[in-house]
Amino acid sequence: MPNLSSVPTTGRTLDHAASIYDLVEPLLLLGKQAEYERDIVNLLEIQPTDRILDLGCGTGTLTRSIADRLDASAGGQAVGIDAAAKMIQVARDKRSCPTVWFTPMAAEVLDFEDESFDAVVSSLFFHHVDASLKLSAIKESFRVLRPGGKLIIADMHIPTTFMGALISHVSRWFFMQPQIGENIRGILPELMVQAGFPEPSIEARYFGYVAVFATRKP
Ligand SMILES: C[S@@+](CC[C@H](N)C(=O)[O-])C[C@H]1O[C@@H](n2cnc3c(N)ncnc32)[C@H](O)[C@@H]1O
Repeated sequence: MPNLSSVPTTGRTLDHAASIYDLVEPLLLLGKQAEYERDIVNLLEIQPTDRILDLGCGTGTLTRSIADRLDASAGGQAVGIDAAAKMIQVARDKRSCPTVWFTPMAAEVLDFEDESFDAVVSSLFFHHVDASLKLSAIKESFRVLRPGGKLIIADMHIPTTFMGALISHVSRWFFMQPQIGENIRGILPELMVQAGFPEPSIEARYFGYVAVFATRKP
């Protein structure tokens, strides 16, 4: 099989971390990865026939949890996209099943038909792209969602605890990532509204700096 190619983007892609990502992520999520992903999956209110898109899917753990609730024979499919080809390769090698498809793609330029998904989800992706790509990716999510389709975004947001503030501000400066600064100033809800979604609700919070937003395309 030919090697996959990464997709050009100004987002911070993680090709360099693909081989260790599955070891590091459980540590970053402080042992709560299973609970965190289960909460996101529950918020999606999945029907077996759904088509669900996961933006910046990384190695595909969340995408696969979603896929396990779907029925391929009834048209159910989880699609994981990531601009980093090495992440997609790990996802394909480790998380394949009949209801999942992983492909390299940039979230800001989705190669899917209008209104072709029942839900769009993303976990810890939006702090990897700047404000203009954040908005483009949310607008693209709006375009590919069917009316009534759900958008769930779990990402860094205004910290709610001292530890959350410490971790997020240290991350912003340690990784020299202004995109994190945008998140912790609270930019995500206003971008969702700008893209056409109703004001999102915050359904859960983790670690004092991650919020799980939910809204629906009208
Ligand atoms: C922190 S990881 C999150 C992975 C996974 N969603 C999770 O929760 O573990 C962020 C991912 O976003 C990807 N990424 C960065 N810029 C992107 C873009 N413009 N389009 C799609 N994926 C992108 C990176 O390659 C990386 O895999």
